[in-house]
Amino acid sequence: MKVLIVGSGGREHALLKACLKSPLVTETVVAPGNGGMAAEATCLPLDVEDAGAVVALAKEVAADFVIVGPEAPLATGAADSLREAGMPVYGPGKAGAELESSKAFSKEFMLRHNIPTAAAGIFKDFSAALDYLRGREYPIVIKASGLAAGKGVIIADSFEHAESVVHDMLVGYQFGKSGQTVLIEDFMKGEEASIMLLVSGEKYVQLPPSQDHKRIGEGDSGPNTGGMGAYAPAPVVTQKIAEKVRTKIIEPSLAGLAKEGIDYRGTLYVGIMVVDGEPYVVEYNVRFGDPECQILLPLLADDPIKLMLDCAQGTLKPAEVKVKDEHAMIVVMSAEGYPGAYRKGDVIEFPASVPDNCSIVHAGTKQDDAGNIITAGGRVLGIVATGPTLQAAADDAYALADQVKWPGAYLRRDIGWRALGK
Ligand code: GLY
Repeated sequence: MKVLIVGSGGREHALLKACLKSPLVTETVVAPGNGGMAAEATCLPLDVEDAGAVVALAKEVAADFVIVGPEAPLATGAADSLREAGMPVYGPGKAGAELESSKAFSKEFMLRHNIPTAAAGIFKDFSAALDYLRGREYPIVIKASGLAAGKGVIIADSFEHAESVVHDMLVGYQFGKSGQTVLIEDFMKGEEASIMLLVSGEKYVQLPPSQDHKRIGEGDSGPNTGGMGAYAPAPVVTQKIAEKVRTKIIEPSLAGLAKEGIDYRGTLYVGIMVVDGEPYVVEYNVRFGDPECQILLPLLADDPIKLMLDCAQGTLKPAEVKVKDEHAMIVVMSAEGYPGAYRKGDVIEFPASVPDNCSIVHAGTKQDDAGNIITAGGRVLGIVATGPTLQAAADDAYALADQVKWPGAYLRRDIGWRALGK
């Protein structure tokens, strides 16, 4: 089977690594890919936001199965067009992708289906938003409704701060169309976790709960990033909480999608906040988390590509799916300056070998004319390790990270601190 992977980040490199191991896959094409993926598969140029171009490429390479990594092509309906062209595809259609591409739709969906989430108001009008803000407690969360490359969520600590954020979005057009509807949401204080589901209609496989580290600095300090590291399983999701997540969140979410006529086939990523022992939905995403994907695929005892194909074709048998009794960690290495303006073009030095329980996943890399792998993005690489304990996985991930070098390379030394008790 020939697989086309759409995307270019660490998540897509992890998907490629799974394809390379899968007995079902004879050839993988990635579009557009990155420097690390180019060494392992054919990479072709693609504007991932152009649904027509995605379909044209899938036809051109005669893909038997398409895996769409990021949310942008899903939001434009690329998966619908691929299905209409008769191709199995892992990723929801445009209607399902609205769970991520419209936070207003997503919040209203949760309310329609009694799924626990923070109280929120949805506004297009600045003065109506201000009236709402006057009656609220602070801090408060302000979200641009549309896709905003991870930058559209702001925590305002006072009325004045909130007023200026809402003004920038609704009047100043800060996020363009994406910020023309805003959500003003009560702040939830608790511990976050990522729940990743492989979904085929109302059937699903739940991957181990994971926890991302979104801030750039140790101790969760400094500005937000795309994610500086993650680990699984995350012990904040105890058996008791997992049961509440299943009955109060997962099952009503999938039943809600079915009731609304949405045949969802792909990853449903539910970001939750655990507050006083109760899980609440922070957001839905319609693709794998990055960097969570990189640690969750190696924890599956079954072939992840087969499971994704089963989701796409409606043949998923959740009861038969097995997860390894292991732990996994990824430590993200970023370029100097990230998440602000960052250095690019530095040659990366790699170790001569990588242990079997580890992998180096490329995110922001490319090959220069001399064939060197150089830095080309903010998040450059992810160092993944699995092990019998989280501490063993952490030790191996950091030992490998210390052998990867380039000028200005940065990593957090405290990934997993909540679970490791640091
Ligand atoms: N890890 C956060 C995200 O993928 O959105």
